[in-house]
Amino acid sequence: MNSTPAAATDVFAPWEDPGATPLIRFDHVTKRFGSFTAIDDLSLDIYEREFFALLGPSGCGKTTLMRMLAGFETPTEGTITLGGQDLAGVPPNKRPVNMMFQSYALFPHLTVADNIAFGLKRSDMPKSEIAGRVDEMLALVQLSKFAGRKPHQISGGQRQRVALARALAKAPKLLLLDEPLAALDKKLREETQFELMDIQEKLGTTFVIVTHDQEEAMTVASRVAVMDHGRLVQVATPEVIYEQPNSRYVADFIGDVNLIEGTVFECTGGKCRIKWADGVDPITAATSGTLNKGDSCCIAVRPEKLAISAERPADAVNALSGKVLDIGYLGNISTYHVGMPGGRILKVQVANRNRLTRRPFTWDDEVWISFTETAAVVLTS
Ligand SMILES: Nc1ncnc2c1ncn2[C@@H]1O[C@H](COP(=O)(O)OP(=O)(O)O)[C@@H](O)[C@H]1O
Ligand SMILES: [Mg+2]
Repeated sequence: MNSTPAAATDVFAPWEDPGATPLIRFDHVTKRFGSFTAIDDLSLDIYEREFFALLGPSGCGKTTLMRMLAGFETPTEGTITLGGQDLAGVPPNKRPVNMMFQSYALFPHLTVADNIAFGLKRSDMPKSEIAGRVDEMLALVQLSKFAGRKPHQISGGQRQRVALARALAKAPKLLLLDEPLAALDKKLREETQFELMDIQEKLGTTFVIVTHDQEEAMTVASRVAVMDHGRLVQVATPEVIYEQPNSRYVADFIGDVNLIEGTVFECTGGKCRIKWADGVDPITAATSGTLNKGDSCCIAVRPEKLAISAERPADAVNALSGKVLDIGYLGNISTYHVGMPGGRILKVQVANRNRLTRRPFTWDDEVWISFTETAAVVLTS
């Protein structure tokens, strides 16, 4: 057995272990509605204890994927297995899967406790055990004090937790959450995200969450799948999705990004020099891929990885001169829109560490934007 100290083995990353067996496997799954392809030859493994997020614009197939897992839809082609078992022909109520819907309607005439007990009473759990299980669930979502209240006597966030407790009461192997926090306001949603992560960690249940909110996906998930038109574009940890997007689509979908189109001028020793405008220096970016002179590509660089200064920084690998066109002040950060040669506009984000008494730069100021070669990602798709 492995006896390395905990710190070295504690990292949860079963997807990197070629010997690990996934809990869920989508194997070349296609789903068509008539002639419309909602899911297009999709293969994906999800592992036990994962908090997995499906992220993508409305209509890209997230709910369809979940409904197939839950058994409300059948794949047109391909197979879905759960713990090695082919789910084809297994009805929803015979799957160790529960789904918490976007509109998690509670029964208004039942108390919080009875809402949570509802599914248990219809299961084969002995009556004597139900009350204990309900108490456990109430404690888990910190609503023990509210057991006797009706849904209209608690807040929106608390109702959301009741729905979660109800969905978890039968101890499913897999919980599917379809936009579970969409009805909550921003602050409550953020708090609830942390509660969800806490509960998921405590129970060790595998969660698959659907969201169109990229910050939410990044916050809660062990891995994120970015979808587009029924396909997976990238499946990776939040860090990799953010720092090493595999395409313009992912770079642009997650967070703020500057995308600079150009052509490869030269590429050797893991470094590319990319021409992006006439009469200015090429941009240098580190890359692990091999590109040829003349290839068209795109440089993706996040606004917070750019620095802005009045003078050209002496030792900067990339320094571009431009003019401040616009300033967005958000309190904690300021975003400068800087006009570049060729009409391009770059966004630069600066953290306001000190209280601002006077802006360091103002409209129409000539400035320099600088960044390192590893701040930029070179994309070819
Ligand atoms: N039962 C259905 N019949 C026909 N088209 C459907 C059906 N369910 C979903 N679709 C279509 O499949 C696509 C994906 O839908 P959905 O999975 O709900 O997307 P998402 O949850 O990502 O917003 C959409 O274009 C939707 O209109
Ligand atoms: Mg949906």
